[in-house]
Amino acid sequence: MQALAKKPFPVVIDLLSSTHATSSLLSQLPQSQGQGIAVELRDRRHFSRRFRDKRANITQVEGDLTLPRVWEEISSLLDGRKADLVMERGNGALAHLPKDERLYRVFLSKIWDMLSSDGGMFIGHLPYVDSWKAAGISWEQIQDWISNLNSNAIPSLMEKHGKYNYVLRIVKAPQSPEKLPSFP
Ligand SMILES: C[S@@+](CC[C@H](N)C(=O)[O-])C[C@H]1O[C@@H](n2cnc3c(N)ncnc32)[C@H](O)[C@@H]1O
Repeated sequence: MQALAKKPFPVVIDLLSSTHATSSLLSQLPQSQGQGIAVELRDRRHFSRRFRDKRANITQVEGDLTLPRVWEEISSLLDGRKADLVMERGNGALAHLPKDERLYRVFLSKIWDMLSSDGGMFIGHLPYVDSWKAAGISWEQIQDWISNLNSNAIPSLMEKHGKYNYVLRIVKAPQSPEKLPSFP
């Protein structure tokens, strides 16, 4: 929040979500201009929220994140800008995504590419442990990958959140590599 408050034009993306969290976050920042993008399967916003979002430069992208067209839409909305914050609190929704290591890798690399190298942060739920296991990824592999990120100038942390979720936080610093080290 403090870091976002210093950005001249904060850009916030919320995956697997309505515009609620993005709108609340941007409205608490001191800047009068910024951009928000939220992605969920169906746009169920009331017309008054659509109106408020439009005024605040917040867009609801409607669609399935496993489809390239949705990522293309996000990229087109960014129009060359990079995100200061990408968040994702999918909870159970993650368990309905295909349990495929290649999909997780593609998502992470797309998120990494969208982040600003000036401290852009991703904070999000990892799929449940059962889903990693079904995707053929072990706990040790995740731990190794996080250590690898930290030794490659990508400050990273994984923390337990509530009973079932693990939250991953990664930061893209100016000295971080262009490409995200391969997952897992
Ligand atoms: C449990 S809700 C979480 C909403 C919000 N992030 C929160 O924390 O309150 C899950 C959200 O994920 C979205 N969702 C589920 N599967 C999705 C998919 N494949 N692509 C895009 N959005 C998806 C749903 O539309 C819903 O908005």
